[in-house]
Amino acid sequence: MVLSILALTLLGLGQAHGLAHDNAAILKRACPDYTTYSAQQHGPYSGGPLNLPFQRPAEQCRTFTSAAVEKVIEEVTSRLVDKDLAQIFRNAYPNTLDTTIKWHVPNGTYSSNSRLTRRDGSVWTGAQTFIVTGDINAEWLRDSTNQLLNYQTLATKDKSLFTLIHGAINTQAEFVIQSPYCESFQPPSVSGLPPYKNTEQDTVHPTYDPSFVYECKYELDSLAHFLKLGNTFYESTGTTDFLSDRWFMALQTVLNVIDAESQPTFDADGQYVENVYTFQRETTIGTETLNLGGIGNPIARHTGLIRSAYRPSDDATIFPYFIPPNAMMSVELQKTAKLLKAAGGHDKLAEELDSRGKKLAKAVQEHGIVNHKIYGDVYAYEVDGYGGRNMMDDANVPSLLSLPYLGYLDQDDKVYQNTRKMVTSQAGNPYYLTGPAFHGIGGPHIGLQNAWPMSLLIQAQTSDDDKEIMDCINLVKQSSLTGLIHESINVTNINDYTRPWFSWANSVYAQTILKVAEERPHLIFGKGAKPYRPE
Ligand SMILES: *[C@@H]1O[C@H](CO)[C@@H](O)[C@H](O)[C@H]1NC(C)=O
Ligand SMILES: *[C@@H]1O[C@H](CO)[C@@H](O)[C@H](O)[C@H]1NC(C)=O
Repeated sequence: MVLSILALTLLGLGQAHGLAHDNAAILKRACPDYTTYSAQQHGPYSGGPLNLPFQRPAEQCRTFTSAAVEKVIEEVTSRLVDKDLAQIFRNAYPNTLDTTIKWHVPNGTYSSNSRLTRRDGSVWTGAQTFIVTGDINAEWLRDSTNQLLNYQTLATKDKSLFTLIHGAINTQAEFVIQSPYCESFQPPSVSGLPPYKNTEQDTVHPTYDPSFVYECKYELDSLAHFLKLGNTFYESTGTTDFLSDRWFMALQTVLNVIDAESQPTFDADGQYVENVYTFQRETTIGTETLNLGGIGNPIARHTGLIRSAYRPSDDATIFPYFIPPNAMMSVELQKTAKLLKAAGGHDKLAEELDSRGKKLAKAVQEHGIVNHKIYGDVYAYEVDGYGGRNMMDDANVPSLLSLPYLGYLDQDDKVYQNTRKMVTSQAGNPYYLTGPAFHGIGGPHIGLQNAWPMSLLIQAQTSDDDKEIMDCINLVKQSSLTGLIHESINVTNINDYTRPWFSWANSVYAQTILKVAEERPHLIFGKGAKPYRPE
């Protein structure tokens, strides 16, 4: 019986046959694994030159639905002149809702088979949302914030999206409170979902519970992304309702980590002080572990910068003062200060955050800007405060290319423009990868022949040049033959790609199209078209 229902589901016929509501649960269990489903092609096809497939799961297999999101899909795809760009938008914009909301409770009514007490003995309350990254069944703080980003502007209109995002903030707060040095997490115990097995052999301090944490790489941007989720929610809806006791506890935890990770390797007397966080993996891949007994390379005193052990690619930093997440954190601290001022009653904390943010922004300028013999004054990717610098960029955000996207500086900033020239050229960036089939910024995570579509989308979002914007978008289109955005693409062969199901990248594509629709509608909607903004 399950087999025949599976066949119906695969054909998308479940609804057409008017199956009773009782069967919905059975159908859901019969839904095909989306990693497999997304790697195959499904109709109806776009009818454009690439005839791209339709990759949304059958309706009964979607993990969350929103009428407001369906309306945006309709409005954008009906205007897009290029049918292939439209098909990718149709697939990519709802991808987070369609495929990654593995658990959501809107009202704190948890099922009876869940563990209702948290690890610290307190009781789970309120909305909760657990969002997987895609083909790995765990939630990354960074990815989930970005996966929700495009729905934020619809949250005022669609109450279910409001609650979904509110739940995501609550769940992230619990992750941060419990294991602030970790970047990816298991379904919370209260969900009743089983943890996903990580087979790596890691020795990490502070220790963590593998039934709570999926992987524990300390990445400064993860904590900045926790703040960003709330800040964007406030900016989009005006709400401060999510400022619960738990959220404040998570904020304090973030500040404690920032303080601990601002400690230099040697104290004022020149004596070695071991960092709170260490990570060692049994591996042959250099970027997966930290040297010097799991500490990483030394950092100098008095820089005002915060150390990050890992990058948003989940690769180890070489010099631990990693500039892009420091820039991002400086922005998010200042935005959190604004949020707290708006909420009222937290003026002292707001002032502290504002001051921390401003000092950090200055430290990024003071230590992050270096002179390059070809490009002049530019931002370095990583420094150590001793003069050590790593000149490169990686596709993953936060990156140097994304500095204006992060809100750290203006796109026309002179040093940024120099930096942009550097990171988008082979002479300036060892990870700017080109080949006969594809080009763009990659990174060590996949290797020296794979460029990442995400970097081209960020390049489009940080450009003032119509031609550059469309060249980037079109190159992504031509190399997304499954109708979805991949993690990386072999520069010699676009059919050789990694991750058929990578929700964050889909969200960056949708965001890019929406930005062009609002700011340069003529590029995608045709000459004289009016700007479009979802609301
Ligand atoms: C809470 O939400 C669940 C799931 O949507 C629903 O089944 C339940 O009836 C709701 N309870 C209340 C009290 O609203
Ligand atoms: C990229 O494609 C080329 C040619 O097909 C192949 O030789 C190479 O191994 C591929 N690179 C990676 C990293 O898979």
